[in-house]
Amino acid sequence: MSDTFVPTKTDPGAAEAARTDDAWWRDAVVYQIYPRSFADGDGDGMGDFAGITSKVPYLSRLGVDAVWISPFYVSPQRDAGYDVADYVDVDPRFGTLADVDAFIAVAHAAGIRVIVDLVPNHSSSAHPWFQAALASAPGSRERARYMFRRGSGPDASLPPNNWHSVFGGPAWEPVGDGDWYLHLFDPSQPDFDWSDPEVAEMFDDVLRFWLDRGVDGFRVDVAHSLVKAEGLPDNTVMRDIQGAGGDRGPMWDQDGVHEIYRHWRRLLDEYTPPRILVAEAWVHPADRMARYVRADEMHQAFNFPYMLSGWSGQALRETIDESLAANHAVDATTTWVQSNHDVVRHATRFGQADPTRWVNGIGPDDPQPDQELGLRRARAIALLTLALPGSAYIYQGEELGLPDHTTLPADVRQDPTFIRTGGAEIGRDGCRVPLPWRADAPAFGFNETGASWLPQPAVFGELAADVQEDDPASTLSLYRAALRLRHERGLGRAALEWNESPAAVLDADLGDVRMIVNTGSEPVALPSDARVLLASVPDAVAEGRLAGDAAVWLDLRG
Ligand code: GLC
Repeated sequence: MSDTFVPTKTDPGAAEAARTDDAWWRDAVVYQIYPRSFADGDGDGMGDFAGITSKVPYLSRLGVDAVWISPFYVSPQRDAGYDVADYVDVDPRFGTLADVDAFIAVAHAAGIRVIVDLVPNHSSSAHPWFQAALASAPGSRERARYMFRRGSGPDASLPPNNWHSVFGGPAWEPVGDGDWYLHLFDPSQPDFDWSDPEVAEMFDDVLRFWLDRGVDGFRVDVAHSLVKAEGLPDNTVMRDIQGAGGDRGPMWDQDGVHEIYRHWRRLLDEYTPPRILVAEAWVHPADRMARYVRADEMHQAFNFPYMLSGWSGQALRETIDESLAANHAVDATTTWVQSNHDVVRHATRFGQADPTRWVNGIGPDDPQPDQELGLRRARAIALLTLALPGSAYIYQGEELGLPDHTTLPADVRQDPTFIRTGGAEIGRDGCRVPLPWRADAPAFGFNETGASWLPQPAVFGELAADVQEDDPASTLSLYRAALRLRHERGLGRAALEWNESPAAVLDADLGDVRMIVNTGSEPVALPSDARVLLASVPDAVAEGRLAGDAAVWLDLRG
């Protein structure tokens, strides 16, 4: 690696400068913390705020601008916290409100902004409002806050319509008195009825509660599902994977959702410095998704088409062009994301026999990916993701090159997808395994006790943060160097200009950096005067050529 200088953001002057930049989010690098699996301070096997706060120096050294923390609210954890029973308190598993305040203060002092998760489509069935709805009669005020409907058939014994849950099985659950309630996800996640004013008012209060505590923004869970088509017609599209297929069923991407986000934007705009909204919206095509980030709505939306492109130069280039154009048309920034807590980590996806194949989960009976090749490609795509104009998201452990745990036994799996489909869908546990911090410690340093809510694979020992810390060739060193250069060279803000290249190669100038990514397996010639700033792997460049499955940043400064 050409450069291993490591940035620090702990100097208060730098932190202050960062916090006064109102458009910080347009090119921010945001690190996703999945609190169950990041770091465990109390040793109970599940991560917590004590653990998160202890790792701020690590995040600072990595050089990220912000963190997004998946839900840590009071929850029965039927869907790993995306089933919220109290939106304005912390689940004791993760700590207390005071712990959150302390974390926000420490993060801010290090110049790191804090985005929290907001889950407005549904609550937990343990939420007091849903419990009150169950205890009340059909047609009551208490039931109006959720999507209760009378069943079909002469004795209301059939669901009101044909919708399916994203997690498998019907999307309706009977409550025993002729009414059924809608749950697009698990039965423990009843959908709110957003046409009820009390629901909207409650969420205004939730937003203010966290904004007043100093959070810098919200990632909005399933932002495209809050409003359902009038009359809840049968789904004739039958694409239930959150609309990912492009066609939209009557539960996804209805025009009414935009009114909600315009309202929230006005609320956020009362705060200084500016706070942001990030949409999790599995919406196609790109111009439909761009509607979520119009000037008076959200600030960003996750670019899932980029994630779905696979390890293919051509598909990546097409997606990059389409998403930049669609967002440019509404003057929004584009985001770049390859992994999160819902998908197979890209180091694993890219190690499949076909690295363009999308897969919802990998289990012990499936063909096992080539970890070495997957990691090599993951390191190369990092130099694409972190160079492109806009904002980049890193999923915890990606900077260590972690793969999914692909051989988790059935009896430890906790994802409701696995449970509701009887194992037909493997689910998302493989990407949610607790992080390895120290190779020679219990639970690889996730805590001091060795407890871990999901078992870790042996390979996490080789990839532990302490092993990579001082190794200039490690994935962690690559990410640190890339983030430092990104900052220095204004990547993220620089316009992209493609250079002519074969289909397997992505070759572009971004200001005074030239990025070349070779998704093919054969080496390609580099410009004769190439000066390498950063290379994805130590053997990326040899004899004036860029190796297969490798990437470089070149210096164009005169
Ligand atoms: C989002 C979350 C996912 C969760 C679902 C239901 O897609 O990212 O983890 O299961 O919403 O809340």
